[in-house]
Amino acid sequence: MNVPCNRIALLGGIYSNYLALEVALRDINYRGVDAIYCLGDLGAFGPFPDRVFPLLDEQGVQCIQGNYDHSVGHALDDCQCGYTDPRDNYFAQKSYDYTLKNTSDTNRCYLQHLPKQRQLHFGRHRVLLCHGSPRRVNEFLWESTTTDHYLDVLLDDLEIDCLFATHTGIKWKRDLNAGRRFVNVGVLGRPENDGQTCVWYTLVGDHGSGPVDIEFVPVHYDHRRLAREMKGEGLPEAFQQTILTGWWTTCLESLPSKERKKGRF
Ligand SMILES: [Fe+2]
Repeated sequence: MNVPCNRIALLGGIYSNYLALEVALRDINYRGVDAIYCLGDLGAFGPFPDRVFPLLDEQGVQCIQGNYDHSVGHALDDCQCGYTDPRDNYFAQKSYDYTLKNTSDTNRCYLQHLPKQRQLHFGRHRVLLCHGSPRRVNEFLWESTTTDHYLDVLLDDLEIDCLFATHTGIKWKRDLNAGRRFVNVGVLGRPENDGQTCVWYTLVGDHGSGPVDIEFVPVHYDHRRLAREMKGEGLPEAFQQTILTGWWTTCLESLPSKERKKGRF
């Protein structure tokens, strides 16, 4: 697909955080972009999973399928999140069971048929949007453990200049050979384990020469309301604490030591 534009917005995992999504879409409209893409995991973690779908539809957001979307779409037994720790899997299952039960059949059908990746021509740049990695939907590409060599080989094999992913929940970017870039666009669904309650999306710009410009944009939303609604829906107290404090209380065992040391737990 050719995108005749100079700026696009990329949303990572939404995790049912419709309040942050509303604020992000308002901000994107104010700034002006030519297209908006979501890199998957529309549900999980937050309350009222059906509320994100009309917001995405109204703004013409083009989505790809994350591991969560594949699981919910096909009513699988679990979220395929890729956790290995029993405590992480216990909380992931609670979240998944709630999300599956509260996602309508129409929206499950939509998730089931989402494309797994999207390839774009953005200005002069050949771009691939994926969820975890081009090789596996639930691969965690962390900043501290992903080598330049690994990324260069991926980009060589795919014959692309820019690769965008999400899934880990923490944004980062890396400049590679020949002006190429890898970017993890972050997530709208929950904060980044840094003690801040904001969440993030990414703007990508093309100015005709050089590599693409990347801007990580913070999204400040009514996180207290989200936590209240999570409580009202019976979602785990540990999840509410993450929303209220900005520190992760679950999914910690998937973090490499360098990323984990930045958190409180
Ligand atoms: Fe994911």
